[in-house]
Amino acid sequence: MDTLAILREVTRKHGIKGRIAEIMRETFAILGDGAADLEGTLRASGEGAPGDVESVCAHILGAGGKRIRPAMCLLAYRACRGLDPLPIALAVSCELLHNASLLHDDVIDEGEVRRGRPSVRVVHGNALSVLGGDYLLMKCVETVSLARPGLMPDFVDTLRLLVEGEVVQLGLRGSIRTDERSYYRIIEGKTASLFAWASLSGAHAAAAEAGTMAAFRRFGWHVGVAFQLIDDVLDFSADADALGKGLLADIGEGKITLPVIFAAQRAGELDGLLRRLVEAEDPSDTAATIARCVTQTDALERVRGQAARHTALAADAIRDADGCDRRVADHLVSLAEALLLREM
Ligand code: FPP
Ligand code: MG
Repeated sequence: MDTLAILREVTRKHGIKGRIAEIMRETFAILGDGAADLEGTLRASGEGAPGDVESVCAHILGAGGKRIRPAMCLLAYRACRGLDPLPIALAVSCELLHNASLLHDDVIDEGEVRRGRPSVRVVHGNALSVLGGDYLLMKCVETVSLARPGLMPDFVDTLRLLVEGEVVQLGLRGSIRTDERSYYRIIEGKTASLFAWASLSGAHAAAAEAGTMAAFRRFGWHVGVAFQLIDDVLDFSADADALGKGLLADIGEGKITLPVIFAAQRAGELDGLLRRLVEAEDPSDTAATIARCVTQTDALERVRGQAARHTALAADAIRDADGCDRRVADHLVSLAEALLLREM
């Protein structure tokens, strides 16, 4: 099936509007009562943190978020026939790692708004944003080393990839040399690695066989790639209020994402515009012109197509995984498909 056919099929199945809230309700119904603790345990993770770091944790953990990564960890656990009690601490640590990386990311990117609120660095300053991220990262290390010591090498690999993704992105910031290959290296590192970890860790907690664990890691990896592709589309096309952050942030931060790379292949003037953007004192006018160029080509459609292809690869990864509960595995695929249509 070509990618547009996959998109049409997904739209037919889930409706035109994304249905994240609905699919998350179904997720919690599948997971059962034990998952009701997830949000409370997550928010309690920052209690008792030293000094002002406690307020930083309350700020970021209380600001909402889709909780996709812990849901993936718990669904992978159930799909691999893990029984009660659910590995809540492990699932929480997936969300804590995500939030730790955002606290650091907002310092690197000078991010002003996160989840519809002023970012932690705007309210508490850069130093506390970094220390808050350090604290949440420490909590993850504590959980994984105590509850899943056998997973430490995979956890360390995940951290390495996360850091590498950000380093490559930083090195290419404002560079019109960014091509499709380096773009993929960035998003695999900064986003796919953590989704892969969430899915793998759930399968590991359920004592899945090595082949099944590898399948779940691959599943998470492709879902993560698709997630970031859609994120980069939404930067051009979303409703800023629903998204909870400003649009055109990527161009403003000098990030050449796949929509821009694709648009440059069609619109000859884009190279010159990008050069102007890098040199401009106030780049906002040029950014708006670049955005118009991007939306006038088929770039966003092509990127959505690539996201659909990765979602199909994710589904393939767990289709024949040994020892799975098919109903839960199918729900994981539905979750991945719904993420393709998200608007926030
Ligand atoms: C958001 O991307 C940031 C990430 C997906 C990952 C950030 C990773 C790090 C800072 C390195 C590792 C950190 C730790 C704690 C190990 P974005 O800037 O594209 O999205 P945004 O628009 O939401 O900021
Ligand atoms: Mg950022």
